[in-house]
Amino acid sequence: MIWKHMTKPEIKDRVYAALAENRNYDSDYILGIPGTYLDTEQFHRDAHFLDDAPFLRTFINNPNHIGCHTLTGDEGEDMFRGTQKIEVELIRMISEEILNAEAKSVDGYVAPGGTEANIQALWIYRNYYQKEFNAKANEIAVVFSSDSHYSFYKGANILGIKALDVAVDPESRSIDMKLMQERLQAAKQEGIKYFIAIANMSTTLFGSVDDPDEIGALFESMELPYKLHVDGAFGGFIYPFTDSNSKLHFGNPRVHSVTMDAHKMLMAPYGTGVFMIRKDWMHYAATSEASYVQGLDYTMVGSRSGAQAISIWMILMTHGPRGWKNMMERLIIETDKLCSALDDMGIRYFRHPSLNIVSMYADQVPSRIPQKYRLVSDNFGAKPKWWKIVVMQHTIGKVVDQFIADMRSDLA
Ligand SMILES: Cc1ncc(COP(=O)(O)O)c(C=O)c1O
Repeated sequence: MIWKHMTKPEIKDRVYAALAENRNYDSDYILGIPGTYLDTEQFHRDAHFLDDAPFLRTFINNPNHIGCHTLTGDEGEDMFRGTQKIEVELIRMISEEILNAEAKSVDGYVAPGGTEANIQALWIYRNYYQKEFNAKANEIAVVFSSDSHYSFYKGANILGIKALDVAVDPESRSIDMKLMQERLQAAKQEGIKYFIAIANMSTTLFGSVDDPDEIGALFESMELPYKLHVDGAFGGFIYPFTDSNSKLHFGNPRVHSVTMDAHKMLMAPYGTGVFMIRKDWMHYAATSEASYVQGLDYTMVGSRSGAQAISIWMILMTHGPRGWKNMMERLIIETDKLCSALDDMGIRYFRHPSLNIVSMYADQVPSRIPQKYRLVSDNFGAKPKWWKIVVMQHTIGKVVDQFIADMRSDLA
């Protein structure tokens, strides 16, 4: 097992040792690489607290993790090998010990967020179809439920491929498979030959979860080529811990790549999306012209701070697998409590039992509540249909209890 609980001093020692293995702008003669020795007027490298703050120390040292280190290993950029090794360990930990991948069977990197990680997947598959099948961009479509994140529309727009959204059942929020079949049939007749399918490991607004086997089986029965990407930007760090029957992992041969955001449920700083894909696929995103980068670049982002990978690794090691599972289960208990109170008040809502999102029918929510609790609606521009609550660590107890009390008093 790579993932285990580590004490604060152990975590600190490991990160400082990694930083010592990196080349350092203070102690090494570095003339060729421009970036970046942070401005010393603004960023004080000798501040005492940095001796006890591994994330901030990494941030100040500013290692560049450009490239994909699970792929290039010792051939990649060697200036920052120490912290890059922690990123490699992190990708292994997540893919193998949270998402059931075989040892070293997955490549990945820490992306700026879920949007980039999702578009990275589309980019790789588009290039694959173009390279291996001579496909034209307009013969490729990404297929997703209408509850999916807008990054799939954005990605399709950037990449010149078609976006095919499929309506969901308004009550269960699950994809209408009959409609999907009709959409695929129509797309085929319009000349679309290659598909990228999306399965949500929790949608943004509802916390609904797609069934990758149902989606995969449909493509297979229609003999349509597809690659399946899982969007776990929201649910990736909770759902695998709260639903023991999850099919959204690399142990499922239909799952080909996964997005997970640490800056959502893992409570990491922004800039901590995680992109993972089975081995032998990253090269479809290689930019061969990036020849001045040792080991080339395989990502959309290019230069990126190694501090982001360190922050995710530190959070996972602080809690360890058992501690993290307990925390996520606690969120489910709190969400159950909230739902029982809503039931008691006669409020209708959607909620997946293994997730911490509750979306209430908007017409039942007293008018001052959404603003007071900064609830999120499906549509801020028009009359909202839904108001969404996300139960998080910082809302357990006090905030949720006050919300329930306010709801009760306003309804009375
Ligand atoms: C399901 C899902 N996918 C993708 C994203 C995009 O993530 P980011 O905002 O980190 O780019 C989000 C963000 O809310 C999301 O909920």
